[in-house]
Amino acid sequence: MQDLRERFEKAGQGHVFKYFDALDKGEQEALLNQLKMVDLDELERLNKTLVFAKNTDAGIDFSKLTPAPYIPLPPEKDADAQWAKAKEVGEEAIRSGKLAAFVVAGGQGTRLGFNAPKGLYKVTPVKQKSLFQVFAEKILSASRKYGVRIPWIVMTSHINNAATVEFFEENAYFGLDKGDVIFFKQGLMPAVDLGGKIILEGKGKIAMTPDGHGGCLRGMVRSGALAELKRRGIECVSYFQVDNPLVNIIDPYFVGFHILGKSDMSSKMIPKAYALEKVGHFCMLDGKLTVVEYSDLPAQYQEQVDENGKLKFIAGSVAIHILDVGFIERLGSSTKPEDRLPFHRANKKIPFIDDSGVLQKPEKPNGIKFEMFVFDALPMAANPVIIEGFRGDEFSPVKNAEGLDSPATCKAHQKAQWARWLAAAGVNIDTDKDGVPGIDIEISPLFASNQADFVASWNALGQKPEIRNGLYIA
Ligand code: UD1
Repeated sequence: MQDLRERFEKAGQGHVFKYFDALDKGEQEALLNQLKMVDLDELERLNKTLVFAKNTDAGIDFSKLTPAPYIPLPPEKDADAQWAKAKEVGEEAIRSGKLAAFVVAGGQGTRLGFNAPKGLYKVTPVKQKSLFQVFAEKILSASRKYGVRIPWIVMTSHINNAATVEFFEENAYFGLDKGDVIFFKQGLMPAVDLGGKIILEGKGKIAMTPDGHGGCLRGMVRSGALAELKRRGIECVSYFQVDNPLVNIIDPYFVGFHILGKSDMSSKMIPKAYALEKVGHFCMLDGKLTVVEYSDLPAQYQEQVDENGKLKFIAGSVAIHILDVGFIERLGSSTKPEDRLPFHRANKKIPFIDDSGVLQKPEKPNGIKFEMFVFDALPMAANPVIIEGFRGDEFSPVKNAEGLDSPATCKAHQKAQWARWLAAAGVNIDTDKDGVPGIDIEISPLFASNQADFVASWNALGQKPEIRNGLYIA
């Protein structure tokens, strides 16, 4: 204890012991356990580079940015030799049990205003299935199709882990084998005030916040989840975010391109819907693939067009990746600072104990939280591959309560996807100019999770269901 106290004092963080002597034994122990988790050297580095540094912008020379190359989507994937080959290689890898699914679900979903883990949010138009149920059924459907167990790693945080696990338990893992769903909690970082001091959120408690989705790399290593994947012979993981029910989790083309490209980490790009869409941008900088967030890229670059009037930085990052297990292990277990993902700073309102020991809830940001982003691994990856995806089959996130990227837009996009699949099977439904049917329809991932499978399953149905409002095809 004395040793720990001295180390904190030496690091200028001795104030965390201010109320220590007045705490009871249990509280003292809890605080000491929290403090043992803090890497004071790392914190000092972050204070220097992100808190006290005069210039805390992204530090990018934008004039040197060029658009990242990607493999474009052909009019018909199977008619294109390169895509057909990728599919064959991807299917073989999936069938032989080399792929796991991986969702990052540790975020707090503040923008949506939903007071539970986001994965519990009900998204589908007819059955009101939760995001987690949609993902589970997509994984189950793929595991039946390929005749293989597909483990699913779910990253939670210390804030939402218990509620997440409980939800899976209550719903009998949505038909998945419980042993194939592996939860782990992402890491924590101390939050500091604007002067770089660790914030006390109670007399015996420091403020610790999740370390960002990039924390998944070291979190997978530390939690043992990666060791479990290796034990099962998994070679790569399909990474996605909890907010996007359209995601094509088990995509043989994507897996195939990743393998054929001998890539450490691959990504899907979707052409931006409009210049200022709030997504990351795939760019090249000094010969390295890098994602520049919309919030870091000045509008003039986001809006830049080429000689044909096409957006120059068109490749939007939709946070869908494939990562090699060996690459996760290398980055997640490295002790060298240059091999680790960088931290970013986010200013936040963090409740704190004031000088007289009273809890205060600030109205404006009073503190800083440190986060890592998974896409910062791309510049460290060998041979990163980017393939184009079709938005209507890949991406419609639920982020805001209303407006863009909301439950309403996401429902419309799901319905439009299913109307397209039905049309491909020869069944035409009335839609608006954006292809969204006026009636509510829903297709279970267990019936089909892509258009080709839908058409095959539909054609195999003896009696076709009547097309009406509330139609659910399962
Ligand atoms: C993110 C990407 C953006 C991309 C967009 C696509 C960042 C900084 N930006 O934006 O490039 O175009 O998605 O939809 O990521 N999460 C954790 N732990 C954390 C923080 C987040 O697991 O500590 C998870 C969330 O649960 C969610 C995902 O990461 O699944 C994305 O988090 P969020 O902060 O909502 O990212 P966006 O700002 O929407």
